[in-house]
Amino acid sequence: MNPADIEKLVALLSLEEKAALCSGLDNWHTKPIERLGIPSIMMSDGPHGLRVQSGTENNLNGGSVPTVCFPSACASAASFDRELLNAMGEELGQQCQSLGVHVLLGPAVNIKRSPLCGRNFEYFSEDPCLAGELGAAYSIGIQSQGVGACVKHFFANNQEYLRMSSSSNADERTLREIYLPAFENIVKTAKPASVMASYNKIDGVFSTENKNYLTGLLRDEWGFDGFVVSDWGATHNRVGAIKAGCDLTMPAESTDSEIVAAVNVGELQESDLNNSVRRILELVFKMDESKSGSEVDFAPGYELARKIASESIVLLKNDDSVLPLSRSQKVAFIGEFADSPRYQGGGSSHVNAERVTSAKDAARNAGIELVEDIAAADVAVLFIGLTEAEESEGFDRTHLRLSAAHEQLVEETCAFCPNTVVVLHNGSPVEMPWVDKPKAIVEAYLGGEAIGEAVVDVLFGKANPSGRLPETFPKKLSDNPSYLSFPGERGIVKYQEGVFAGYRYYVTKELAPLFPFGFGLSYTKFEYGDLSLNKSEMDENDSLAVSVKVKNVGMSAGKTVVQLYVAPEQGEVIRPLRELKKFEKIGLEPGETKTVAFELSKRDFAYWSEFALPFTWGGLFQTSATKALCCQSMASSFSCVALWSA
Ligand code: BGC
Repeated sequence: MNPADIEKLVALLSLEEKAALCSGLDNWHTKPIERLGIPSIMMSDGPHGLRVQSGTENNLNGGSVPTVCFPSACASAASFDRELLNAMGEELGQQCQSLGVHVLLGPAVNIKRSPLCGRNFEYFSEDPCLAGELGAAYSIGIQSQGVGACVKHFFANNQEYLRMSSSSNADERTLREIYLPAFENIVKTAKPASVMASYNKIDGVFSTENKNYLTGLLRDEWGFDGFVVSDWGATHNRVGAIKAGCDLTMPAESTDSEIVAAVNVGELQESDLNNSVRRILELVFKMDESKSGSEVDFAPGYELARKIASESIVLLKNDDSVLPLSRSQKVAFIGEFADSPRYQGGGSSHVNAERVTSAKDAARNAGIELVEDIAAADVAVLFIGLTEAEESEGFDRTHLRLSAAHEQLVEETCAFCPNTVVVLHNGSPVEMPWVDKPKAIVEAYLGGEAIGEAVVDVLFGKANPSGRLPETFPKKLSDNPSYLSFPGERGIVKYQEGVFAGYRYYVTKELAPLFPFGFGLSYTKFEYGDLSLNKSEMDENDSLAVSVKVKNVGMSAGKTVVQLYVAPEQGEVIRPLRELKKFEKIGLEPGETKTVAFELSKRDFAYWSEFALPFTWGGLFQTSATKALCCQSMASSFSCVALWSA
């Protein structure tokens, strides 16, 4: 429908109908207005598979239509592969088409501020560049199928404890450099249909009522032209939400009359309400026209889930090259997760997987005959990790240890069998006081319904591991930069570590983690060389071309992730020692060399400055009391562009 027709519809709607359009019909649908031919559209979780339920249901543990369960974001982020995330989005978009879903509630791109956050499994990374690039690729994939993506949870929603009331208090620079850029990238490059306003407050103001961010930043500065939906139950003030630019309150509400009354007494401008209605109608008509309603074919989704899982597995340790295993070895698979893997997280993202393949199933299907008795085994593969009772949406963890039973199992198995391999299923980092004991450690994360096959492919060398950690694994919880201010006091969470989130802290503080961000081993070896820059100084309109040659110097084909970090000069502002700005995953045959090229712009060298400086990327930002010119300064020259390979 064209803008003029939308305008005609807005003029025909009564005040009551306009208010009604701004809240849900039920748990998942917008309201139809039949007399004007306005249809209802359906939203569904997301992000790593569809949770399609009837309008009256919102059951977190079941009841949804069976569908493909892809790897959770904690895992898929480890692929560092935009193409795979794009393919996942496309496949999900097709499934949405078949199942009548118009808007998929994902991607979830909140930054992993603390490894304790119960919902980290659903988020990509502690790094905004990685989270933004993968979230954009996924969103573009979904939207290529005529389905809307909904980027969530906007923003600074970094813990589950008091998630519906706590206030995330960080300075503007920290927000602009760490907690906002992933959203900014996706909004600007993928043009998502929708953004979900989070439960928490930002500096004392609920996200759903935060005009500075929902209108000032998102729409006026970044150019977002879709609609904003509240997280489910996140709206506390319907009138305040409309004024701020939060268009649709979900799920169903009995408070539409508050909007009508506010317009009638002049507390709310009808033009503000019209803006929200217009944005909702634009999407309703755009999405409704695109439905096809065909049968879902799960087979391609399963194969894609398997591919993503195998590219996401991170090999953390491989002493004496104990991996890959050979089929002639006697191998025992130990632990309940070998039969019944933990392959996804709990809460609103929980998918009713159409099938799940365990590692034992996969080994059997591949004709690998496993021994039952560890005493008869050359190699013991121990499947352990976190259970759903230990991490989920809705609560945070209180420590990073595995259960005492799992830790004991590692100790005892390693004491008994010198060739022990640990396979981990977990949605976020764990401490490993036992790290020296097993020969190999395989981080399989929550890898979706095909994880069993992916793990067996990696264990037996059919797939060469190529995942890289999208987050730091600290030696101990107290090393994490948010440790002293997580989960806040009396509902106020001060982001005291500022821009030193994740690896930015560890590298700057020179604090060795257990396993660093970006780390992962392979069965082959890569050599990086000939780093070249096309200039040694640049001004604000220049770009810098960087290239590096990468050679596979090992014996097998494999993939590596070239990671480009910028190391700023020391100046008047204290900055992280290095920051990821570009990455590319490449595959190389043995002996093959490829040149990887990147282009860096001013923004890649920039930090957010709260003082007026010559170069801006922030433009005018409206604060509650004053207008401040927020600018971006760029170091006049760069001392070093660091390429770092784990
Ligand atoms: C979650 C969202 C989800 C919504 C609908 C909320 O509790 O925070 O991520 O999309 O429920 O299930």
